[in-house]
Amino acid sequence: MDGRFYYIMTFGCQMNEHDSEIMAGLLEQMGYRETTKRAEASIILINTCSIRENADKRFFGTLGQLKRLKKENSDLIVAVCGCMMQQEHIIETIKKKYGWVDIIFGTHNIHTLPELINRVINDRQRIIDVWEEHRGVFEGLPSKRLYPFKAFVNITFGCNNFCTYCIVPYTRGRERSRKPEDILAEVKRLAEDGVKEITLLGQNVNSYGIADGFEKDFTDLIYEINKIDGIERIRFMTSHPKDISDKLIKAFGECEKLAAHIHLPVQSGSTRVLTRMNRHYTREDYLEAVRKLKEVTDGNIAITTDVIVGFPGETEEDFEETLSLFEQVKYDSAFTFLYSIRKGTPAEKFEDQIPETVKHERFNRLRNVLDVGMAEINKAYEGRIEKVLVEGRSARNKSTLTGRTSSMKIVNFEGKPDLIGRIVPVKITEGKTYSLFGEVCDEV
Ligand code: SAH
Ligand code: SF4
Ligand code: F3S
Repeated sequence: MDGRFYYIMTFGCQMNEHDSEIMAGLLEQMGYRETTKRAEASIILINTCSIRENADKRFFGTLGQLKRLKKENSDLIVAVCGCMMQQEHIIETIKKKYGWVDIIFGTHNIHTLPELINRVINDRQRIIDVWEEHRGVFEGLPSKRLYPFKAFVNITFGCNNFCTYCIVPYTRGRERSRKPEDILAEVKRLAEDGVKEITLLGQNVNSYGIADGFEKDFTDLIYEINKIDGIERIRFMTSHPKDISDKLIKAFGECEKLAAHIHLPVQSGSTRVLTRMNRHYTREDYLEAVRKLKEVTDGNIAITTDVIVGFPGETEEDFEETLSLFEQVKYDSAFTFLYSIRKGTPAEKFEDQIPETVKHERFNRLRNVLDVGMAEINKAYEGRIEKVLVEGRSARNKSTLTGRTSSMKIVNFEGKPDLIGRIVPVKITEGKTYSLFGEVCDEV
């Protein structure tokens, strides 16, 4: 199969990115090689996301562009998978408007990709194979990492939380956890392979093992990984505030490899809205968790968040509570989203949907508060020496290197490419709103 190429497009979260890494690994095992040119590919795979409406729109836009390639090359296989495919109405649209798509599969059977491809090559017939639920946790799958020195590791799949705005529980199924021994074996293998930083992935890592009745909880897992030689940084995503335990907070003060950063999605600063979102924590609970995190780390922890503006029924007062929470917490960064109606979720049926103009106006006010806080935090980095994991050359200026601090800040600095993949001390010379600038130095 020499000279056969695949091209993957990935939308959505890190879980999707990691699924794409696994599918790339499977395709390489089949003998395909990666290409960055669509026109050269024998297989084009689109891994979709359905979290907001614009994600759906982008997918159909991309699909439309592929029609010409498919016409020019009848051997081209176009495969689509990911969260969008777990929804009946999407599959109906593809069948009706994009009948030339060869393979449609879902989030629960990415490991069957080689079999699906072979079937299409042999039968030349469209295959739709979307599983409604998971059929166990599949181990031993390959993965083609983007970076040799950092890796994603799945710890849980699916979600049981049913936040009223969110599609994920419907597209990823019920929560299940990988066994601790499988996770630890994978991390050890990665460490032997030169990986320094791992990111543990799950929609809610804090509930790791609970639904499966495991003895070890999420924090136990972190302590175990902390002991693995070669691993220098441990990160995780995402931590649901309702399940953050004092035990986990304490780990930030004790596990030296745990990065000085937590992503703690707040969604709203108003308890009334949080209740309607089915989040199971109050504004006060959230602020208390933040206080404890800062206390246990002497303030040396970066806190980032996700927030939704314009959830149905959000009043000006509710929104002002979000603003004041942002002022109080002072986030290092935040993903700010306009509420987007998702078919099949409870909030789709809620009355008092907020007009787009109001959503945008609130969004801009929130971004302003966020930016002021971020600029202040980053300015305070000036003069400090930070350990930076060097990730590569900067996209904007090829002679500049870029990397991340333990607190997840992007740092740009001059240096030779042989530093890529190493953790080096960098003295911060300038702290801007979205990134830091510095120079490599000797001491830490
Ligand atoms: N499991 C993670 C989040 C996964 S989705 C958690 O619970 O934190 C990532 C983010 O997308 C969410 O945190 C939320 O802020 C946002 N999001 C999800 N559904 C949305 C919707 N319908 N409209 C706007 N933003 C949404
Ligand atoms: Fe969606 Fe809520 Fe689950 Fe996160 S915890 S994936 S926001 S339902
Ligand atoms: Fe999108 Fe699915 Fe992730 S909807 S955000 S790709 S879990």
